[in-house]
Amino acid sequence: YKIFHFQKEPNKTIAVAHRGASGYAPENTFAAFDLAIDMKADYLELDVRMTKDGLLAVIHDETIDRTTNGSGLVKNFTYEELKQFDAGAWFHRKFSGEKIPLLCDVLKKYRGKINFLIEVKEPKKQFGIVERLAKELIEKGDQQLNVVVQSFDTAFLQEFHSVLPSISLGVLIGYRHGAITEEHLQQYAAFATYINPNKALVTPKLVYMIHQSGMKIMPYTARDIHDIQHLMAMNVDGIITDYPDYLTNLPK
Ligand code: G3P
Ligand code: CA
Repeated sequence: YKIFHFQKEPNKTIAVAHRGASGYAPENTFAAFDLAIDMKADYLELDVRMTKDGLLAVIHDETIDRTTNGSGLVKNFTYEELKQFDAGAWFHRKFSGEKIPLLCDVLKKYRGKINFLIEVKEPKKQFGIVERLAKELIEKGDQQLNVVVQSFDTAFLQEFHSVLPSISLGVLIGYRHGAITEEHLQQYAAFATYINPNKALVTPKLVYMIHQSGMKIMPYTARDIHDIQHLMAMNVDGIITDYPDYLTNLPK
């Protein structure tokens, strides 16, 4: 099937809502995703982990402790059990009743309305996640599903690329990675379309090198307007931010 992505317009920086509009609503919930849509973000960024029964749940941490009223490892709960926990009240009581979503339900609800930047967390710890995610994306695959899969784990990305080469991939690069060289970029360009580094690693030279190697750059995570202005001045393609409205409200 054919995949297409919203093109960056001239002078437009792609607004990626980090875990949804997570500056305003509990991360990785429908409330945060709805708000990102209202703010006219271009992408929803979200994190996936596998449940005990092999489903893909949308949650950042390995445990449910920080973002729900429960406690324990995601992988030790079935989805039926996970959805009993409240994933909104920790942020503000007005969000109580939010649940940990399933990836398939997020894709179903927002397909055609926005692009998706799906981060696979710790794939090495999640046996079978390559096949599971590929199956989900193939089942949902049509012209209205615009997906980029990203991970810090390049071995996972390479494997995913060999299983489902039609899906665009992003390499996440953490603060501790150190200098990103031409050699790294050459290696990544064999399977990836996006290089998404920690904002502290971004320099005008790095942006130039990424563009020269035919890829795009969408750094993470901008949390104030200064971050956004600083990254835009370096000509990044998109910005992963908790406050997508800071980008979408900028004068055209
Ligand atoms: O999208 C990039 C960013 O989400 C990676 O870090 O910890 O927020 O998942 P983290
Ligand atoms: Ca993430």
